[in-house]
Amino acid sequence: MSSVTVRVPAKVNVQLSVGPLRDDGYHDLVNVFHAVSIFDEVEARESELVKVGVEGEWADQVPLDDGNLAIQAARALAKHAGRGYGVELVIRKAIPVAGGMAGGSADAAGALVACNELWGLGLPPEDLMEIAADLGSDVPFSLLGGTAVGTGRGEQLTGLETNGTFHWVFAIADGGLSTAKVYAECDRLREATGEAVGWPQVSEPLLTALRTGDAHALGAVLTNDLQPAALMLRRSLARTLETGRELGALGAIVSGSGPTCAFLAADAGHARDLAISLTASAVCHTAAPTTGPAPGAHLI
Ligand code: C5P
Repeated sequence: MSSVTVRVPAKVNVQLSVGPLRDDGYHDLVNVFHAVSIFDEVEARESELVKVGVEGEWADQVPLDDGNLAIQAARALAKHAGRGYGVELVIRKAIPVAGGMAGGSADAAGALVACNELWGLGLPPEDLMEIAADLGSDVPFSLLGGTAVGTGRGEQLTGLETNGTFHWVFAIADGGLSTAKVYAECDRLREATGEAVGWPQVSEPLLTALRTGDAHALGAVLTNDLQPAALMLRRSLARTLETGRELGALGAIVSGSGPTCAFLAADAGHARDLAISLTASAVCHTAAPTTGPAPGAHLI
């Protein structure tokens, strides 16, 4: 086999509840992940060395050195296998970079699945999950896909049953936000306001809305504790969210650490109309309709 290709979805967090800062610099979370049908492709080709190339609209924003999470994933997998394997990774990006949609994590998950296949390692999903968790808090979910509750720093996953298809619109911003900086701003705001930070709990109404496929109910209970911090670092997002609400979105939320904004629509037609109106209103770089849940990293 000289080349394999893997597709990996973006995610939105339908609930992101952030607990207190831990000693290791992370926060305990209740993080309800939902994979959506915006996919990066990661192709792994035979090569002596480990190297990466990136194609697509966001390619110029992706590092090509060891800061690239897909490179780190390939190296971690080779180390786990105990051999100095090489690979040429080609990433075709559709997920915005530093957009709060786990684009870097998706590429890492894609590299794990692709290299496992290319190198004929045959490692089971549990082993890939373990390596994924060391690479980043969101990487295990990029492998799993669907809808799942993440606890710990987000890496301990329990899959959730959902019913039907949810229709989303993602308003992509110009330029990204650093996840670490958004968490730090969240801590700063909490300290400044003296907000009591409790232990995060999963929302029962949210689980019911997901289980029954009720988009109106889900739209009403979307929450993201990182949203005030993202709005503080990128003031223009308040207007983006407000515009989506005025256009009839069932729910409007910053996606993860932002700056992408997620809008829940009633059906495919509503999502298409919302995306056209958001793009025309110039409150974002571009807005695209999509659906969830989507499958996790898979060979194509
Ligand atoms: O795990 P990952 O490398 O994706 O996390 C990026 C940054 O986000 C961390 O360095 C940390 O600052 C912040 N983070 C956090 N708590 C989490 C997940 C991420 O504070 N549960």
